[in-house]
Amino acid sequence: MKIQLFEMGAISFLLAWSTVSVPGAESLPPYLDANQPVETRMDNLLSRLTLAEKISLIHADSKFTTAAIPRLGIPRRWLDDGPLGVREDIGPDTWQPAGHTDDFSTAMPAGICLAATWDPDLGFREGEAIGQEARARGKDIMLGPGVNILRTPLCGRNFEYLGEDPYLASQMCVGYIRGEQSQDISSCVKHFALNNQETDRGTINVEADERALREIYLPAFKAAVQDADVWCVMAAYNQFRGQHCSENDYLLNKILKGEWGFKGLVMSDWGGVHDTRGCALNGLDLEMGTDRNYNDFYFAQPYLDLLQKGELPMAGLDDKVRRNLRVMIATHVLDANRKTGSLNTAAHQAVARHVAEEGIVLLKNENQLLPLDATRIKTIAVIGENAIRLQAHGGDSSGIKAFYEITPLQGLVNRVGTTVNIVFSEGYRKGGGPELAERAIAAAKSADVVIYVGGLNHDRGFDCEGADRADMKLPYGQDELIQKIAAANPKTVVVLEGTMVEMDSWLDKVPALLQAWYPGMEGGNALARVLFGDVDPSGKLPATFPKKLSDTPAYAFGPGAYPGTNGTVAYAEGLLVGYRWYDTKNIEPQFPFGFGLSYTTFKYSDLKLIPGDGTNEIVTAQFEIENTGKRAGAEVAQLYVHEKNPRLMRPEKELKGFRKVFLQPGEKQTVSIPLTRGAFAYYDPAQNGWVAQPDSFEIQVGSSSRDLLLRDNFNLAEK
Ligand code: BGC
Repeated sequence: MKIQLFEMGAISFLLAWSTVSVPGAESLPPYLDANQPVETRMDNLLSRLTLAEKISLIHADSKFTTAAIPRLGIPRRWLDDGPLGVREDIGPDTWQPAGHTDDFSTAMPAGICLAATWDPDLGFREGEAIGQEARARGKDIMLGPGVNILRTPLCGRNFEYLGEDPYLASQMCVGYIRGEQSQDISSCVKHFALNNQETDRGTINVEADERALREIYLPAFKAAVQDADVWCVMAAYNQFRGQHCSENDYLLNKILKGEWGFKGLVMSDWGGVHDTRGCALNGLDLEMGTDRNYNDFYFAQPYLDLLQKGELPMAGLDDKVRRNLRVMIATHVLDANRKTGSLNTAAHQAVARHVAEEGIVLLKNENQLLPLDATRIKTIAVIGENAIRLQAHGGDSSGIKAFYEITPLQGLVNRVGTTVNIVFSEGYRKGGGPELAERAIAAAKSADVVIYVGGLNHDRGFDCEGADRADMKLPYGQDELIQKIAAANPKTVVVLEGTMVEMDSWLDKVPALLQAWYPGMEGGNALARVLFGDVDPSGKLPATFPKKLSDTPAYAFGPGAYPGTNGTVAYAEGLLVGYRWYDTKNIEPQFPFGFGLSYTTFKYSDLKLIPGDGTNEIVTAQFEIENTGKRAGAEVAQLYVHEKNPRLMRPEKELKGFRKVFLQPGEKQTVSIPLTRGAFAYYDPAQNGWVAQPDSFEIQVGSSSRDLLLRDNFNLAEK
C-alpha cells in the first residue's frame, strides 16, 4: 500500500490521508490546504521535514527527478528538457533514452525561429502548449526557455536561443514563460549567465564588463524573473569573473536574489556543481546531473557532513528547501485539482505550424518569383538532403522525439503533389560523391522550378550542443552545388535550414532565398504554405546575418575574445554585440537584424511623439502602417532609439519596441508604442545603476534595423 502511494504521488496520498485519517477537509494540515497562501503552506511543510528529508529535496535521485517523501505525500519531482517541446524520457541513471513508447511529443520549431516571429502572443501559445504536454507527461519543471544571447554565429546552441538582441529575447521569453507556467508547470530559464559558446563550456571563464553584462547578457533573465515570474533559473556551466556560475555570488546572490528579488529556485546545469561549500553559500538551491552516486552529490552527504560539523548554517539549507517547496506549491504539485494537460493534440500541432509559418524569413525574392503558382508549374525539382532529413530529434538536450515530422519534401507533396510532378534529388550528403550533384543538376534542368533545401543540421560541429561550429560555411560542397543548380535552372529557390552561414559565393545567382531555421514537426507544411502563398512570410531576422565570419564582433578581437585563451574568454567588444557592432562600426551585413520581406508591401507614415501621462510612460510613438499591396500580410514595425550626445559610449541604435500587425490589402492601422524612461537608459557602472540622462534622442521606426522609414527627435527632460 505504501509503495503504491509513493508511486502515485501527492493526490493519492491526499485521498488516502483524508479518507483514512480525518473526517473533514477542515482538518487538513495547512501545507495540503490549497486555500492557504503559498508562503503559509511552505512554512508549514518545512516545519515537518527531517534533516534527511530536507537534504533529499536539494539534489537529484535520478537523471531528471528528485526524491519523493511518501510520509508527507510529496511526490517525486520530474524535470525535463525543454525548450522546444517535452523531451523523451531519459535514464533513470544514464543518458540513454528510457525506451518508453508513450513519450512522443509535439516538436516546436527552434527557439531562433520563435524569435523570428517577433510575436510574443505566439510565444505564449507555444509555452502554453508545451506546458500542457509536460503536464500530460507527468512533468513538473521544464528546462527552458534558453535565452543566451547570440554573441558569435559559431555557438552550437544559437538555434535553441532567441537571437542577438536583449529586448527581443526578453519580450519573447516572457510570453513563453507565462504560457508555460499557466499550466501548473514551472519554466526554468537558462543558462544563467554568459553561456554564449559551447567550446570549453564547463570550464571557460568569461570576463565581460559591467555594461555588457547589464545591457546585453542579463536583460532577458531579468525580464523572465520580474515580468514573467519564472519559478526556476538554471545556472550555466561556465565561470564568470573566476567563479563557476553555479556558485557565483555576484550573479546568484547579489543580482538574481538580491537586486531582482527572485523567490524561486536556482538549479545547476547537469553536472555543473564543483564544490559543496561554494554552491551552498553562493545561491544554488538544487543540484542536478552530477556524475556520482546520488548520495555522494555535493548537495547530499557532503552537504550534510558540513552541516553537522557546523561549517554550513542550517538557515541556509532551510532557505534552499523553502525555495524548492515554494515552486512545488505554486505549481500545485500537492493539490488535487492540478491541471492534467494534453499531449499531441491537433491544437498543439497547429501552434507548431503557426510558429514555423510566422518564423520563416523571406530574404530575397527577385521579380516576385515567390509565391509560386501551382497552376503554372508542371515539374518541381526538390533538391538537397535537408528536404528529407528529420531534424526535430537532433541537437542534443533540446531534441524532441516528434510524434511525426513533416519534412520539406513531404510538405510539398502534401501541398501540390496531386497536380504537380515532384522530382527529388539529394544533391549532397555527408561523404557523398560527385554523382549526387550530377543527378541533381540533371533534375534541375528538367524542372520548371527548383526548390533547393540545404543549410546546416544538428550533427556535432554544426547546430548542436557540446561543440561550436569551426566556421560559418555551408558544409558538404553546397556552395558549389547551389551555383551549379542556379546555372542549370534560373528559377531556383534556396531554402536554408539551420543558423546563419556565409552565402557570398552564390547569393547573387539565385532569385529567391528563405531562411527556415529548424521549423519543427509541421515545418514542411509551413514551408509549402509560405512558398505557395497560402500565408504571407512575416518573419524577421532575430540576429544579423554577417557576410563573413571575419566581420563579426567576437572574431575581431582575436582568439582571446573567442573562443578564449588560457581558459578565459574576454568579451572585448563589450556592448557591441550583433547589430550594435555592425551599425557602430559601419560594417555592411549580408542581411541586417530585423530584416525580412513579404509578398505584399507596407507604407509607414505620420509618426507622432505623444507625451506620456506622467506615470510610467514618458512618450508614445504613434504611426500608421498601411498594406499597400494586393495580399494580406503581416509587418513587424520596429522602434530604435539613438542617443545624440551620450556621456558614455552607446551603440548607434538600440531596439526598444516593436509591434507585429496583420493587415488585409488596403487596410491601415495606427500603431502605438509606449516608451518608459527605461527605454532611454544605459547602465552606468560608476553609479551601479541605470541612468536616463536628459538629452536629445532620435526615435527611429522602420521595417528593419537598416530600413528606418520614420524619424523624430525626442528631448528627454530631467526627472
Ligand atoms: C544542458 C541543459 C539541459 C541539461 C539537461 C545540459 O547539458 O546544458 O540545457 O537542460 O543538460 O538535459
